[in-house]
Amino acid sequence: MLKPSKDIVLKISNLSSWYGKVQILHEVDMHVKKGELVSIIGPNGAGKSTILKNIFGIIKKRKGNIKFLKKEIITMQPEELAKIGIAIVPQGRSVFPSLTVEENLVIGAYTRSDNIKKDLEYVYDKFPVLKERRNQPAKLLSGGEQQMVSMGRSLMVKPKLLLLDEPTLGLSPSMKKLIFDKIIELNKSGLTILMVEQNARMSLKLSDRAYVLELGRNRYVGKGKTLLKDKRIQHLYLGGVA
Ligand SMILES: Nc1ncnc2c1ncn2[C@@H]1O[C@H](COP(=O)(O)OP(=O)(O)OP(=O)(O)O)[C@@H](O)[C@H]1O
Ligand SMILES: [Mg+2]
Repeated sequence: MLKPSKDIVLKISNLSSWYGKVQILHEVDMHVKKGELVSIIGPNGAGKSTILKNIFGIIKKRKGNIKFLKKEIITMQPEELAKIGIAIVPQGRSVFPSLTVEENLVIGAYTRSDNIKKDLEYVYDKFPVLKERRNQPAKLLSGGEQQMVSMGRSLMVKPKLLLLDEPTLGLSPSMKKLIFDKIIELNKSGLTILMVEQNARMSLKLSDRAYVLELGRNRYVGKGKTLLKDKRIQHLYLGGVA
């Protein structure tokens, strides 16, 4: 049963978007409720990153509605969106390589004017390795540690909605597990998360709900665990077996 609409943090309705003349998204509908972990899965080029970029105001040519906490945000800029509590961890490791770990984290709070010391401690508490390496240039960290910097930086926004684009891409199996564990931990502590993930099996297992996107269109939607057992999903995205 759907929770009452007051619990909806993000509601995307009828979203279409274009790169130049090429239409990428076709009337996409999606929502995320407070406290949920929702995944978007689908093949390469399906438009998954494009959805997150639309939410974060990076894409200009689009139509439809994107509501965040009931407010229409489709015309808003990334900086304003960060101020109202949306943070994104983009696809690929987006650290400033020459800046130290701590400088990278502090940049995440650039739209805030309040005291960030407690939040820095919160990030160090979640990712102790970053505290140990706070004064080193980010480029010296491993891929997984850089991903932690990127996630830590997004937490400095104090987000009400966290957008994660392929958080485990290219990481070793043990680092993937660690990052997934952190995502679960953040979600359990109350953070609402919308995540794009290549690892369909893992993301369906962890997610409250998931959307399957194909060629820029909604294909399937359902509870993560239900989709995991769905023969069509198994055949298309999970290599045929559960
Ligand atoms: N800046 C851009 N200019 C033109 N076309 C783009 C641009 N970015 C993405 N595209 C195209 O838009 C489509 C959707 O791309 P998008 O990055 O959203 O896919 P994706 O589902 O995230 O794929 P992947 O799993 O490979 O990350 C693709 O065909 C891609 O080539
Ligand atoms: Mg992508």
